[in-house]
Amino acid sequence: MYHHIKQLMYTVNVGTPDPRFGNMLLEQFGGANGELAAAMQYTIQGINCENAGIKDLLMDIGTEELSHLEVVGTLARAHLKPMKNRAESVDSDPLIVIAGGGGVCLHNSAGNPWTADYLKITGEVEVDLRSNIAAEARAKIVYERLLGYTDDAGTLDALNFLMSREITHMKSFQKALDSIGRDIFSIGEVPPMKEVVNVYFNDSTGRGEAGSDERGPWNEGADWDFVDAPGFPSVTPLAHDGEAGGAAAHSRAGRTGHGVIPKPHQPGR
Ligand SMILES: [Fe+2]
Repeated sequence: MYHHIKQLMYTVNVGTPDPRFGNMLLEQFGGANGELAAAMQYTIQGINCENAGIKDLLMDIGTEELSHLEVVGTLARAHLKPMKNRAESVDSDPLIVIAGGGGVCLHNSAGNPWTADYLKITGEVEVDLRSNIAAEARAKIVYERLLGYTDDAGTLDALNFLMSREITHMKSFQKALDSIGRDIFSIGEVPPMKEVVNVYFNDSTGRGEAGSDERGPWNEGADWDFVDAPGFPSVTPLAHDGEAGGAAAHSRAGRTGHGVIPKPHQPGR
């Protein structure tokens, strides 16, 4: 059950309207990382969720995102309003005047309509929570960028509030994911193939100005079998660890630490 209270979650005061900035704000109203997308994603995930605690979390945050939609919509509306009757403002985006009368509509800053394709809903809570952590991070960075395009104090204040709440939600989603207590690389019920899951393919090779092959925890260490240039068996192995042919020599093209490259799985065989 939804109930609307005639009070914004956070005060919106706009000193000097800026229609161009109002148009940019629509990115967080009807855009891919905007508040409507967040509200719909979390609420629908919540409807699907069978974990009582996480369901409650999803419905709490999904509902808060609707309040954010109202705040950012009110803010955008305040900036766009002059477009209705000031000819010079219309240049920012005639679509907003023609289709929306100088008000907000559910499209992004480029005029593309909102779409449910923005939503990431899998019905698997541990997967959905990962999508939500990423969604909050994306929304945070969009708000941060928007902060750089206005000097209006009231606008900066409201945007700072909205940006801060993205971090709050990211924290709750991460803690909820942690509370499930599974290994972070364990998803679903079917285990991955042992012979391929820890193999790293160095599929992008280069030297000098074209770039070099980098090593780091994502591809080196006891957890990994490093395979150099599997699609180009004649490539000269790169020296790693300061030694000609070094560490690459035992993991060169066509070989892993304990054998040849496993054949990809072919369904039905
Ligand atoms: Fe939000």
